[in-house]
Amino acid sequence: MFLLIFSLLLASPAAAAADNAAGPKSIFLLAGQSNMSGRGGVVNDTWDGVVPPQCRPDPMILRLNAALTWEEAREALHRDIDAEKTCGVGPGMPFAHLARRRDPGIGVIGLVPCAIGGTNISEWRRGGRLYGQLMARAQAAVLGGGGLIRAVLWYQGESDTTSHEDARLYKRRLERLFNDIRSDLLSPVLPVIQVALASGSGPYVDVIRKAQLELEIPNLRCVDAKGLDLEPDGLHLSTRAQVRLGHMLADAFLGITAPLPVQSSSGHRRCNNFFLDLFLRWIR
Ligand SMILES: *[C@@H]1O[C@H](CO)[C@@H](O)[C@H](O)[C@H]1NC(C)=O
Ligand SMILES: *[C@@H]1O[C@H](CO)[C@@H](O)[C@H](O)[C@H]1NC(C)=O
Ligand SMILES: *[C@@H]1O[C@H](CO)[C@@H](O)[C@H](O)[C@H]1NC(C)=O
Repeated sequence: MFLLIFSLLLASPAAAAADNAAGPKSIFLLAGQSNMSGRGGVVNDTWDGVVPPQCRPDPMILRLNAALTWEEAREALHRDIDAEKTCGVGPGMPFAHLARRRDPGIGVIGLVPCAIGGTNISEWRRGGRLYGQLMARAQAAVLGGGGLIRAVLWYQGESDTTSHEDARLYKRRLERLFNDIRSDLLSPVLPVIQVALASGSGPYVDVIRKAQLELEIPNLRCVDAKGLDLEPDGLHLSTRAQVRLGHMLADAFLGITAPLPVQSSSGHRRCNNFFLDLFLRWIR
């Protein structure tokens, strides 16, 4: 098994073909709480089952299921992960569709759902159960096919809007979490795209929102959920809003990783190396 994995990691054309057959080329981790998990189309604890065209299954978009196996992704993406709640449409599928359309070189996409509804940021800290699960799933995703983790998509914060203390500490906790993820994945400039909360049930939404919008670390982008419409529960993004959010996340991700032209002996050519690309952006 390990010999197989090792041979898949070698970048010969034959290995690349086997790689594609075995698993995705570009892996994305999805974490946070209910809006990342997806509640689009869920009313009174029942999902309407409506899947818009932007969220349809596609053989080029895979999902790592709870049994750590790659399968064709379909809504509801988090159904066996955030299993205690009724899951609906989230941002993952529209994200993947748009990312593939804009950058065909991204190859087969592997989505790794890890979000759990109702969780606060303290529960996601390194050493906790959710963090451990995120890392275990990330590792399984890479070993099960040889793909590369391209980004973390993060949408959380609502559960930290009720206490002043939690809201005050949010920015520090968020920064630590992103740093821990990058360091444990041995990917120091791994892109992180997070979502700024538009509103929330607790009194400290503005403090959380400010923390999200102001946090500045390399290759971190924040998209704003303000203006996106909610389900009748007033608590979760609607299906239409999730499609819009998925597209915003894809635009933000591609804004970080768009290949830069580099000079070579044969003149200008596109730079295909992801890390070299990031490095070039970083030193500019
Ligand atoms: C959801 O439940 C509320 C209250 O019980 C009810 O008024 C409403 O019609 C229900 N909505 C749907 C779509 O079933
Ligand atoms: C986070 O949530 C857990 C579980 O609901 C709870 O026990 C804990 O008190 C919360 N932590 C903070 C800092 O709010
Ligand atoms: C879902 O996102 C919306 C828009 O940001 C926000 O108002 C709401 O509080 C979020 N709900 C949860 C449970 O995170």
